[in-house]
Amino acid sequence: MPRPVSGAPDVSHARSGAPSTPVGSEPSLVLGIESSCDEMAAAVVESVAAQPARILASVVHGQASVHAPYGGVVPELASRDHLGAVSRVVQEALDRAGVGLDALSGVAATAGPGLMGSLLVGLSFAKALAYRAGVPWVAVHHLAGHLAAAELIDAKLVAPYLGLVVSGGHTALYRIEADAPHLLGETRDDAVGEAFDKVAKLLGLPFPGGPALSRCAEAGSETAVAFPRPLAGAPGYDFSYSGLKTAVLLEVERRRAGGPLGESDRADVAASFQAAATDVLIRRTRRAARDEGLSRVAVVGGVAANGRLRTELEAAAEQDGFALTLPPLELCTDNAAMIAAAGARRLARGEVSGLEFTAFSRMPLAGSSFDASAGPDA
Ligand code: KG4
Ligand code: ZN
Repeated sequence: MPRPVSGAPDVSHARSGAPSTPVGSEPSLVLGIESSCDEMAAAVVESVAAQPARILASVVHGQASVHAPYGGVVPELASRDHLGAVSRVVQEALDRAGVGLDALSGVAATAGPGLMGSLLVGLSFAKALAYRAGVPWVAVHHLAGHLAAAELIDAKLVAPYLGLVVSGGHTALYRIEADAPHLLGETRDDAVGEAFDKVAKLLGLPFPGGPALSRCAEAGSETAVAFPRPLAGAPGYDFSYSGLKTAVLLEVERRRAGGPLGESDRADVAASFQAAATDVLIRRTRRAARDEGLSRVAVVGGVAANGRLRTELEAAAEQDGFALTLPPLELCTDNAAMIAAAGARRLARGEVSGLEFTAFSRMPLAGSSFDASAGPDA
């Protein structure tokens, strides 16, 4: 069943219901579709010139039960499930928003990066729907979408700011300027979310790994194992997670030599890994904000839902004096409200994608031609 995003913290930006029309301005209603990995999501946002977008409806259909038996996302199963879900997820988003196709000003969809088969389902549906409704469609870079989630909830978040994107596929720090995002550093190997997922699997925790590991860590001690903080002292802003993952593997093997892993072993390894993985993110972010002279920091992507990361970042923001934007949990993990918001911004600038524009599995955010202007507006 599609599930509506719940627990939205602020009705001003996340309510369901019919759109309102402020006097003297023309609101635009954009439908967003996200299907880059194992979530089929659709959302409708309303934006009014120079006003941040407002979420009218946001629906996410997850596939955890499809992939759980395999311990990871199976791409072919993901795209088949998307095909079965796309129509009703989009319909539910429109119904919840209380709008028909004829009310839409445009349709936005994630074009990449992501799983090709999964992307093509949402993208093709978006193009067909836009064609049928006689409105433009616009491609959105998935990471521009994640960053748009922060701007969606925080009107004060304007360029220049520091953007940390932490997800299952990406770990990168950007200096976000009004005209474009500039890459400061990124992971040299695994993404941090991927490391959470792999370590969770190693510990025998259920899929999806990140949230399960974070729950397991609650009962453990962060100082039980002194895992390395990779590249912590190195200049620049790159990250590395493969060495940390290997260190966890060796620790688990050492503990298994004495018998099967007990609950406390699991919790201690999980807590110590989580501390190492998030410490590196926090240190790099603090240093980049200081070096770049940026007083605003946004942290987005699935791993931004991690409780320890959020708490420690909040403490760092207070200590260092930067303003921190952390989207609510349901806007950290993949959703379509962020895609609709990023799409609405592109459309407001007159940027439209042709029907021949197709999905891409890889493309850096910074410097990509179609998304060079996908950073925040001035
Ligand atoms: O942004 P996202 O939903 O999808 C991608 O674009 O990859 O991020 C998914 C990643 C997964 O690796 C997942 O394990 C991780 O975010 N994640 C978490 C938490 N919630 C999701 N990692 C650590 N702690 C969490 N609470
Ligand atoms: Zn994502």
